[in-house]
Amino acid sequence: MEKLLVEGGKALYGDVAVSGAKNAALPLLAATLLTPGRHVLGNVPDLRDTRTFLRLMEDLGVTHERQGDTVTIDATEVRDAEASYDLVKTMRASVLVLGPLLARRGRARVSLPGGCAIGARPINFHLAGFEKLGVACRLEHGYVDAEVPGRMRGGCVYFDIPSVTGTENLLMAAVLADGVTIIKNAAREPEVGNLIDMLNGMGAQIRGKDSDRLTITGVKSLRPANCRIIPDRIEAGTYLLAIAASGGEGRVTNCQPAHFASLLAKMRQAGFGIQEGGDCVAVRQPLVNAGAPPGWGAADIKTLPFPGYPTDLQAQFMALMTLSNGISVITETIFENRFMHVAELQRLGADIRIDGRSCVVRGQGVKALTGAKVMATDLRASSSLVIAALAARGRSEISRIYHLERGYERLVEKLTALGATVGKENE
Ligand code: EPU
Repeated sequence: MEKLLVEGGKALYGDVAVSGAKNAALPLLAATLLTPGRHVLGNVPDLRDTRTFLRLMEDLGVTHERQGDTVTIDATEVRDAEASYDLVKTMRASVLVLGPLLARRGRARVSLPGGCAIGARPINFHLAGFEKLGVACRLEHGYVDAEVPGRMRGGCVYFDIPSVTGTENLLMAAVLADGVTIIKNAAREPEVGNLIDMLNGMGAQIRGKDSDRLTITGVKSLRPANCRIIPDRIEAGTYLLAIAASGGEGRVTNCQPAHFASLLAKMRQAGFGIQEGGDCVAVRQPLVNAGAPPGWGAADIKTLPFPGYPTDLQAQFMALMTLSNGISVITETIFENRFMHVAELQRLGADIRIDGRSCVVRGQGVKALTGAKVMATDLRASSSLVIAALAARGRSEISRIYHLERGYERLVEKLTALGATVGKENE
């Protein structure tokens, strides 16, 4: 296992380009299972999760070729194989093969994911939705066995909570069903929109993009896709927060600022200068008023489905708030156990108290944190530790960085280009 070494206390300056979105790449890769032929996907990030997903697709008989960030997928053959527990436990998004496999082969067998570091994360909404389309789902020996005699038929699906991968799975199942499917209280995340664009480009008929009501009129067949993955809004936000917390200034490029407008609003509220321009965002340190301490103010956040503040940027914003000149309340409403980073941030000197689903963060000013040994627990928790370690005085060691490699492409290279002193070492 590798660990990340960070020599903190250096302000970051410069430009950093954002890669394709992990959480868009995974459903778009899954959607290529829908129809035979050669599909071309652009801006596919080379991450542990995308590699794992492509391995799962290989098990299903689908081959691929990568040239730069373009991945060509040959989905001519799709075998009757299962997504095993060994694979699904390393990447829950494997459940995204359920929808397209049911649409293409009428059958799918996928291991039930089980809980993970951030919460229980059930897939009951996915299964209840499939059942509305005529699928019989059985749970046996830890596996979901889903089968539909003939083609699926359109139905009306309502999500109690807008589920991102639930919406994506149902979309992929419904595009080839007989008749019309309506998804109510659908997730509106940009990654869902990217999938809708890809499916419509393949000949699907989906209306209601960016709204919470999607209408899918089933079609008889689809053609291979040619689509580009949207920029990763969570990666963009993470770098913006890293630059800000380090006391530096810079730009995040190749991104879509509208996709993380909630973060930009909160950074402005904390006093940062945020300038949006086409596909980039620049961040400047707050102006210091005479007599006031240097640094930034506090802002509260509450995580919500899009367009609310994203849960995937909660931990990173908390890292910034540990260094503010005020008190911030951070409320997590999406996942029940997404404060694993708190104890690690405390090791760096942060003053945070957990109170149920909220954290009270007492900012202690820009120089508050000091380097320490900490442990990464999940992907986004790890990136908050990187932000805190970059801002902390002295050396930090972050162990178990395989979590980071799941979702941040060329992290060390990108941070080094911004002037950070970071490196990997074997534990
Ligand atoms: N939920 C259920 N039952 C379900 C599905 C969801 O109760 O069948 C609940 C969840 O427990 C949660 C809420 O609904 O409380 C929303 O969960 P959602 O289904 O939207 O999450 P997801 O689709 O499993 C995706 C991202 C996550 C991101 C969440 C929320 C992918 C591959 N994963 O997960 O990304 O946090 O949406 O935005 O798209 C990450 O990248 O680090 C990550 C965890």
